[in-house]
This record gives sequence, structure tokens and C-alpha cells, in this order.
Amino acid sequence: MSRSAHPAGPRHGDVLPEGHYAGPPADLNSLDPRVWSRTVRRNEDGVVTVGGRDVTALAEEFGTPAYFLDEADFRARCRDWKEAFGPGADVFYAGKAFLSRALVRWLTEEGLNLDVCSGGELATALGAGMPAERIALHGNNKSTEEITRAVEAGVGRIVLDSFQEIVRVARIAEKLGKRQRVQIRVTVGVEAHTHEFIATAHEDQKFGVALAGGQAAEAVRRALKLDGLELIGIHSHIGSQIFDMAGFEVSARRVVQLLAAVRDEHGIELPEIDLGGGLGIAYTPDDDPREPREIAAALRDIVGKECAAAGLAVPRLSVEPGRAVVGPTAFTLYEVGTVKELAGLRTYVSVDGGMSDNIRTALYDAEYSVALVSRTSDAEPMLSRVVGKHCESGDIVVRDAFLPADVRPGDLLAVPATGAYCRSMASNYNHALRPPVVAVKDGEARVIVRRETEEDLLRLDVG
Ligand code: LLP
Repeated sequence: MSRSAHPAGPRHGDVLPEGHYAGPPADLNSLDPRVWSRTVRRNEDGVVTVGGRDVTALAEEFGTPAYFLDEADFRARCRDWKEAFGPGADVFYAGKAFLSRALVRWLTEEGLNLDVCSGGELATALGAGMPAERIALHGNNKSTEEITRAVEAGVGRIVLDSFQEIVRVARIAEKLGKRQRVQIRVTVGVEAHTHEFIATAHEDQKFGVALAGGQAAEAVRRALKLDGLELIGIHSHIGSQIFDMAGFEVSARRVVQLLAAVRDEHGIELPEIDLGGGLGIAYTPDDDPREPREIAAALRDIVGKECAAAGLAVPRLSVEPGRAVVGPTAFTLYEVGTVKELAGLRTYVSVDGGMSDNIRTALYDAEYSVALVSRTSDAEPMLSRVVGKHCESGDIVVRDAFLPADVRPGDLLAVPATGAYCRSMASNYNHALRPPVVAVKDGEARVIVRRETEEDLLRLDVG
């Protein structure tokens, strides 16, 4: 993720290292299918379309900036995941990547389960009709209210993150006369190769209970003693935007080893394991993500082998992809406002959104691609930096990108692969109004999350 050659990025005329912005793409008008959602095309007028609708008409109808979500692609990816893991496993979509009522309905229809990590996500899931038994509640510091609502609703599992929470959830369940199905989240001590802020399985961070030093075994001991809890398994999530399967394999191995230790100590075979989410997607054509069926095969293989070695029955497996399901299915559409050429450096192309609709570039040094989508151009490639309209020089949407040199105010630019962690991490910085999410399918476009208005902002300002 953090792969920029140097923070300032390349400059006009720099000779760039092979494989890293090795130069402009052969054809700036082409749309690489690795980064664009599956129904995106360019029509005979040179205008990009999604779900059969062209972006100039979409911009006219819904305004910019806006996220356009390719519903057919989203549903297809849900099915890809579901089919890859098969009937013996469960796929929990991680709602933190992006959640809305329409999306919950699609997930429900496509047979995915849902991981929520806050009261707000839980309310959205339940309100849109996701059956409670298909919901998992996560979080390293769930409030008493959140736990109570989840237990009352009858969620399928709560993933316990600390010793305090083991007792807290047990007490709440007992008080409500229930026995809550739970998993214990363990940190397996894997250094995931991703940005530090989104790696979660090394020991020095806030999530889970460490396998090291016997902490996880102690958590199991305590959970097994409490009447309010039904311990169904062990959970591990190693981080996010990961391409290398090696970390997942180590994680699977260590989780199965814990199951074996639990069997040896307590004579119980815990029936489930969850290996979390974190599978990477392509933000630029240089990224090379694994397909769900490769991931499923690799995980099944390692879990099967480890269980055989330990003499354990293979537990029911679940995974929690967020980004890999929704990330590739949306792009953000912006209108160009100003174009500023800095001689010998680069050209700054300012769009009408920025860090309030995509904080990932500023926060994680994330790389994105961008294309001129309202027309084609034969102009020379121009080394550009796509920036927003916020009052910070770090307000960068795409750090280094080639755009045609004739890009001008009024053009529409689209940044692909913004389905995950863009709208869900959007802010009102500078009192920006958060953009809408528009679902497009079979020539129909409809708003599923509407654009914020100044009235929305002022409603909260009660001084
Ligand atoms: N399960 C658990 C317990 C998680 O904490 C997460 C993500 C997921 C599943 C889903 O991970 P995914 O498949 O989407 O990578 N805001 C960051 C990502 C933070 C991920 C937090 N947890 C970003 O924009 O890259």
C-alpha cells in the first residue's frame, strides 16, 4: 500500500523505475478491467458508461462528486465469494467497508452473512432485514448498550476481544436469560505486509487476545466456565489490503493449533474458526489480487492439513471480506474545477471533492488510478496530481497519475475502486457535504444514500 518511491512522487520528465509508474499507459482512453467494475465501458461517443448509463447523464442527474456503485458487479462478487467457499463455510461481508440498507438487502438475497462493529451498523443490518442469526458483532470496546441490543436481537455470534468483554457479554446474556454464541478473537503474531495502521495480528496493537504467553488459552478457560456464553470458535483477522496468502496460512495453522490445545485440555472440539477479512484489491493495474476461489482453496487446504495433523474434525470455516467484495464495484465521479501547471514539477488538477470523500490517500498513502471519463482525448500524457478542494496541501486524491494534457475545467474524472472505506470514512471536513451513493444496474440509476444537504449539517448544530 505504501509503495510510493519517494513522498513527493515523480516529476515531469523523471525517468521512472520499471513497474512503478513506468510511464504513461499505452492508451490513456483504455479502461483497465483490473480496476474498473465489471459493467464499465466506453461508448461510441467516448463517454464512459456503468450499468448501461453514461457518466455525463449521471453527473447531470445526480451531481458530483458522487459514488456510483455497479449493483450487478456487487451481486456477482457476493456470489463469487459464496460459491468459492461453498455450503460448508460462511462468508460474512464486513459492513465497515460500506453499509447501507439497499446493500444489506442485496447481501441477504445473495446469501452472505454480515459482520457489524457498532450499534449503527447493527441497526442498519437489522432495520434492512438481515436475519439476526446471520449477523456477527465485532469491536474491541463494544458498549453495554451495543452488546445488549445484539444479544436481545439474537445475533449469531459476538466476537469477544478482551478478558473484560468475556465477563461483560456473559453477564448481559445471563441477565436476559440467554446463552450467547461467541468466538474469541486471538492475535496470532503475524506481521501482515500492509500499512501499519491496518495490520492487526502482530502483538503490539489493540485487538484480540494474544496466543503468545497463553493468553488465548486462558480466555478460552474463562469463557467455558460462564453459563451466559456458548463458545463456538476462534477468530483471527490479520489486517487489510493483503495480497500474500502466507499470513493467512500462518494464522490458520496457529488457530487450529489452539483448537487442538483446547481439545487436549478440555476434551472439547470447538466447531468453528473465522479467519477474518483483509484480502487486497487492485487500486492500480500494478496490483494483482487473488480470486475468491484461489483464496478459498488455499485456506481449505491449510485448515484441512492442520486438522488432519492434529487429529481434529475440520471446523466450519468463515471469512469476513469487506474491501474485496465492495471495493472494486464503485467509482467516484468528480468534475474538474481548475488545472494548474507547475513548470518542471507536475500539473495539479483540482476536483470538487477530496479528502472528505476519500481519506485513504492522505491516511495510508494509498494509490489510486484515475481516468478522464466524459470524453476521449488524443492529447499527450501529462503527469498529474489529482487534488481536492479542502484547505490542506495533503488533500490528495490520486498522488501520481497520467491524464491527457488537454484536461480542462468541466471535464469529468473518475477514480475507480472506491467502493470500500471511502463513503464509510467520509467526513464533513470544511463542512463538506458527503456525496451520495448511486446504484446503477441495467440502465437504471437510483440513489441509495442521498447527498447531504446544508440543512443536514445545520440540523446537528443546535447552539
Ligand atoms: N473483519 C474484521 C474483524 C476487521 O477488522 C476488518 C477490517 C474486516 C473483517 C474487513 O477487512 P477487509 O476485507 O475490508 O480488508 N480503513 C482501512 C481498512 C480498515 C480495516 C478494518 N478492519 C482502509 O481504508 O484501508
